[in-house]
Amino acid sequence: MTSPSMDLAGKHILLGLSGGIACYKSAELVRQLIQAGATVQVVMTAAAEAFITPVTLQALSNRPVYTSQWDAREANNMPHINLSREASAVLVAPASADFMARLAQGRADDLLSLLCLARPIERCPLLLAPAMNREMWAHPATQRNAAQLRADGATLLGPDAGDQACGEVGDGRMLEPEALVEELIAFFQPKRLAGKRVLITAGPTFEAIDPVRGISNRSSGKMGFALARAAREAGAEVTLVAGPVALATPRGVTRIDVQSAQQMHDAALPAAPMNDVFIATAAVADWRPAEALEHKIKKDGSGRPPAIEMVENPDILAAVSRLPKPPFCVGFAAESQNVSENARAKLQRKGVPLIVGNLGPATFGRDDNTLLLVDALGQREIPTGGKLALARELVREIAERLT
Ligand code: CTP
Repeated sequence: MTSPSMDLAGKHILLGLSGGIACYKSAELVRQLIQAGATVQVVMTAAAEAFITPVTLQALSNRPVYTSQWDAREANNMPHINLSREASAVLVAPASADFMARLAQGRADDLLSLLCLARPIERCPLLLAPAMNREMWAHPATQRNAAQLRADGATLLGPDAGDQACGEVGDGRMLEPEALVEELIAFFQPKRLAGKRVLITAGPTFEAIDPVRGISNRSSGKMGFALARAAREAGAEVTLVAGPVALATPRGVTRIDVQSAQQMHDAALPAAPMNDVFIATAAVADWRPAEALEHKIKKDGSGRPPAIEMVENPDILAAVSRLPKPPFCVGFAAESQNVSENARAKLQRKGVPLIVGNLGPATFGRDDNTLLLVDALGQREIPTGGKLALARELVREIAERLT
């Protein structure tokens, strides 16, 4: 979605593997953690070694793998203490049913469970990515253990639903490495919007002329999707109303797909009163053909193009800001010139507390952007950066205005 980032720079991840077929995905997970800037120390249980060798994980992490609490490489012979003191977080992926059961009981009969117990609980968080057969996951004993682990402060990532190695289909798959990295990055972001609900419109709209033609624009939706991700990382519950774009839904975000401005309006308006914040990033078509024809318009031989009558679309942002108790409304102004003046005019016209200006044609489809925040008090530029970095900055600005 966005260009490769170093969102885990400076983080040292202790990656634990317990026994499960999902261990093969942990090799890829190590690569992706390192690509995101983390350093990774792998610790494996004996059961994990039955699925994948420490050699693979040592080669990928560029560090010797630890498998035993009696590892004599440590001068004090206390790898369970030393390893957990260095870590920014412990991530166990895969976390097997048996490993979760042992953790829930506070057992410490191998290095990985021992170091989970010995870690400084207040500064070294524990994240678990369960991976097991769907019956094992659904079993009351596993559910009891999962609830206990959550109550003890662990964060469970997944499991996912889908095809399982055993041939069955259901809940219990380990999250894909990409999803785990996204979750870990989100975990480390400050929770500035915890408990808040955020509604976002994104992308272009498509206004049908006939069954094969229509009017749209060059908005890629990237800024709106980056904002949805950033708001969710900040702890918000996020609903994203998206026009036709080819972008993956950020994790944990509820997505409603629409085509036309009217559909976007009809999805956003009823949802708006339930939200604390509304961010209108969509490049909504201002007009639509008065009627969408049932059949394709054919050339009539006269050489004259057909006259297409247009009508104005509803202004979604203005309609939301006019609600009796509107959420905090943020508009975008994609301009081709005079960003500051045009953004300020829109602030008045749409009756919203914050407008974010940018040079539309220069930014459409790109991964970076420059934003100008305009409100009643003045204006501030957020310098050029990746859309996700800008989105996080904008989320910080919005969160400050909510308090
Ligand atoms: N917007 C909207 N519904 C519309 C048109 C715009 O919700 N029918 C929102 C956009 O999502 C954006 C803001 O209003 O947040 C400004 O959009 P823009 O197209 O720049 O403004 P317009 O009101 O269309 O003004 P103009 O085209 O004259 O610049």
